[in-house]
Amino acid sequence: MSIKDNKQSYGRVSRVLHWGMALLLLWQFLSAASHFFFDDTAIEAFFWPTHKPMGLLLFVLIIIRIIWALMNVSNRPPSINWLARLGHITLYVLMLAIPSLGLLRQYGSGRSFEVFGITVFSGFESEKIQWTLDLGGLLHGELGWLLLALTIGHVIMSYWHKKSKTTNNVMPRMWGK
Ligand code: HEM
Ligand code: HEM
Repeated sequence: MSIKDNKQSYGRVSRVLHWGMALLLLWQFLSAASHFFFDDTAIEAFFWPTHKPMGLLLFVLIIIRIIWALMNVSNRPPSINWLARLGHITLYVLMLAIPSLGLLRQYGSGRSFEVFGITVFSGFESEKIQWTLDLGGLLHGELGWLLLALTIGHVIMSYWHKKSKTTNNVMPRMWGK
């Protein structure tokens, strides 16, 4: 299997990014669910502290993934139909927008933000930036749950294409030969 994509299948880098990010997103949704459903419990105490660091890691990975996708855009397996194309683009937009909104709100709070020993924002003394707090409060969690719903749809569709006799099985493009 080559490093780069080709018309028949995704290459190594795209696959590592796809499956690696799928695992990290699963963890991210577990941490979000722990906050939503198990507030003030040992489950939340276990998962929730990882939400921001993992969110930052996902933000860095999606930027790399977008750059890689653009570099391979003319040489990737073509979408099976326009709905699949729209679905994949929507997943990309959400994977970028959700952590961006989280980070924007974090910045606007004026609090310092340190992750993995690195100071991402050093914080400031002046007033909080209200619009970043409002925007994050309004959209971050909601878009996060929308991403979860669309991801479930994406997984169902990929299995449906695998089982269906009338459409192509797209699984080997991303998994196996
Ligand atoms: C792809 C990355 C991310 C996903 C999928 C995601 C998803 C979510 C979801 C679904 C919620 C709602 C939980 C609830 O309703 O209780 C949430 C809440 C939250 N997230 Fe994220 N998040 C991500 C990245 C980040 C980042 C980078 C930050 C900050 C640096 C952040 C900070 C927060 C905070 C403070 C909350 C609680 C307040 C709220 O509900 O808006 N998240 N996140
Ligand atoms: C069990 C979990 C998953 C399965 C079985 C799966 C399956 C697949 C398959 C078979 C393809 C190739 C489709 C084609 O070429 O038409 C694909 C592509 C894609 N998947 Fe998934 N997927 C999973 C999880 C995820 C997750 C969690 C995300 C992100 C939210 C995601 C986002 C994408 C995107 C954006 C593409 C287009 C190719 C790319 O740019 O990476 N997938 N997936």
